[in-house]
Amino acid sequence: MTRRIFVTTALPYANGAFHIGHIMEYIQADIWVRFQRMQGHEVHFVGADDAHGAPIMIAAEKAGKTPQQFVGEIAAGRKKYLDGFHIKFDNWHSTDSPENTELSQDIYKRLKAAGLVYTKPVEQYYDPLKGMFLADRYIKGECPKCGAKDQYGDACEVCSSVYAPTELKNPYSTLSGATPELRTSDHYFFKLSDPKCVAFLKEWLDAPGRLQPQVANKAREWLEGKGDQALGDWDISRDAPYFGIPIPDAPGKYFYVWLDAPIGYLASFKNYCATAGIDFEKFLADQNTEQIHFIGKDIIYFHTLFWPAMLKFAGAPYKAPNHVYVHGFIQLGGEKMSKSRGTGIDPLRYLAIGMNPEWLRYYIAAKLTGGVEDIEFNPDDFLARVNSDLIGKYVNIASRCAGFLIKRFQGQVRLTDRYSDPVLRDLEAASTEIAEFYDSREFGKALRRIMDLADEVNGYIDREKPWELAKKAENSDALLRACSIGLEAFRILTLYLKPVLPQIAITVEKLLNIEPLTWSHVRDGLSPDRLISPYAHLMTRVEEKQLDALFDMPSESKPVPPSTPHPASPAKEEKAASAAASNTIAIDDFAKVDLRIAKITNAEHVEGADKLLKLSLDVGALGARQVFAGIKSAYDPATLIGKLTVVVANLAPRKMKFGLSEGMVLAASGETPGIFLLSPDSGAQPGMKVK
Ligand code: MSP
Ligand code: ZN
Repeated sequence: MTRRIFVTTALPYANGAFHIGHIMEYIQADIWVRFQRMQGHEVHFVGADDAHGAPIMIAAEKAGKTPQQFVGEIAAGRKKYLDGFHIKFDNWHSTDSPENTELSQDIYKRLKAAGLVYTKPVEQYYDPLKGMFLADRYIKGECPKCGAKDQYGDACEVCSSVYAPTELKNPYSTLSGATPELRTSDHYFFKLSDPKCVAFLKEWLDAPGRLQPQVANKAREWLEGKGDQALGDWDISRDAPYFGIPIPDAPGKYFYVWLDAPIGYLASFKNYCATAGIDFEKFLADQNTEQIHFIGKDIIYFHTLFWPAMLKFAGAPYKAPNHVYVHGFIQLGGEKMSKSRGTGIDPLRYLAIGMNPEWLRYYIAAKLTGGVEDIEFNPDDFLARVNSDLIGKYVNIASRCAGFLIKRFQGQVRLTDRYSDPVLRDLEAASTEIAEFYDSREFGKALRRIMDLADEVNGYIDREKPWELAKKAENSDALLRACSIGLEAFRILTLYLKPVLPQIAITVEKLLNIEPLTWSHVRDGLSPDRLISPYAHLMTRVEEKQLDALFDMPSESKPVPPSTPHPASPAKEEKAASAAASNTIAIDDFAKVDLRIAKITNAEHVEGADKLLKLSLDVGALGARQVFAGIKSAYDPATLIGKLTVVVANLAPRKMKFGLSEGMVLAASGETPGIFLLSPDSGAQPGMKVK
């Protein structure tokens, strides 16, 4: 049966750029969504920025911007991360949107009508200078137990005691330094402790397969808490000034950010429905629609108690989620990588230095399970895993077979005796098991199974020895058979890896001239006379120095220098570039660089070099030059011959392992993959000066 699924990831706070933890969550959900689509299911995948709340309001004020401006700028930066890592949301929206206002107010009114909302006076610290109530995090003072200074309002970092902010001695507002005053105001509460809520949640949590067992247990503990652990009602209002959604018929009161944040899932979906021609309410209310949220383990409480209860008691078309899938945290060297620590991998830098996004997708997927354990990013492991699995096992199969097919058989495959060897049968037979692993988010298990199959295929090629067969004309049939089976095996492996490696899959589909692969294509086979296009370089290896560059980061706020295609040490050049980035130069400085039009008269691969192409250049009056350029990943040498480009002609010649490099050709690269050689408009002649 075709499933209809509505999938979301947690909505990131719009007060900072994405960090690797966000990217990991999106990669997990994106793989799952891509897999379900390959199964033929209907999936809608949306995200949004979580825009509201006091921290964002305060951050905007500090930056001298309106909150709307502030979150708008953050939102504008999202796309390059998502595109860069092939994360394909159908829609990205904001909780600060008309849809969210409408939905939040609607849900609130329904909860109120159901008798689940009441008001009660709350006494709280108030900053008389700022004119606002202070959340605990904005109050500091002396610890009531040990007297340590500058402790936060809820707990002491020195003696670890826990207390209420009102117990602090000599409290002060961290926003203004003023001494806070206790003031009372009416707050709105959602009656989570109501017996009908508790009964519903118990049933919801107990539904078999709805939640991971660890998650359901945790939520049950909260639900059944006794004494001072007992489930309390939920304070859903905040007083003005607040960046949020006004509560209907309650002047000066706003919804607490966590009330409207999950409703933002629906708001983004509704916004998407309008353009996709989907009837939002009908879709949502349909009993066959599955609503699934991917989240991290720190926000289980909100997603397994408040959120299902809100949806349930708001009534149709709203419906409690079918599943909440929880993941652990990604850590580096044991430390939590998130904005609060400021450590870790900067995703944009990862892309800017030319690292392949699919390496990270693969590595993260290989570490992921269906559980909530944390995963660790280990650079050595990353390098070994990617190079040995993706390059050594998977890509290697194509390299070993495609060349012979192109050179010897005009790119035609022949698969008449598909099952003459068990290798393809084994590959096909694994389809159900791999699909089950993906469906249950056991991506690590899926990839291990796929790599075992890749080992089997390489074993087959080792036994058949196409390179031996190629030596004698009478073995031509055997060579064709072995390479065809090898390439067909590669096609099936590509299909299995496609949720994780969508970009490689597209390249392979082009290479093999086949339709976009879906799961049902497992048994289709390459048709007998399929022409394969010239073999393109599929993926390069991870290099040690890339990881060095990744972790040798100044700070997240400094501009990230673009990578350079020139073979000189990238680390050094980047440092120079970033030092120079803030300085301007005089025209004389620029004039020192002798830029010339050059014609590429020859281009070839360099034995033993992963990244370089050797270019012969005609620089007009300056004569012929030889240059090594780090553009192998982007260009087939044959396509370069005859092209015009720009060369730095007065760069001191550099002796390299492979020979002398007499200049540098210019190319562009950015945060997304790809290297783009510069070329002049037509009419330019070799040797002309560029100025
Ligand atoms: N705005 C709330 C969520 C509202 S959902 C209606 C929030 N935002 S967040 O930006 O702090 O976190 C967004 C998601 O990233 C959460 O699912 C969180 O668990 C996840 N992660 C944050 N740091 C992480 C890691 N280091 N590793 C993996 N995921 C992490 O919470
Ligand atoms: Zn203390």
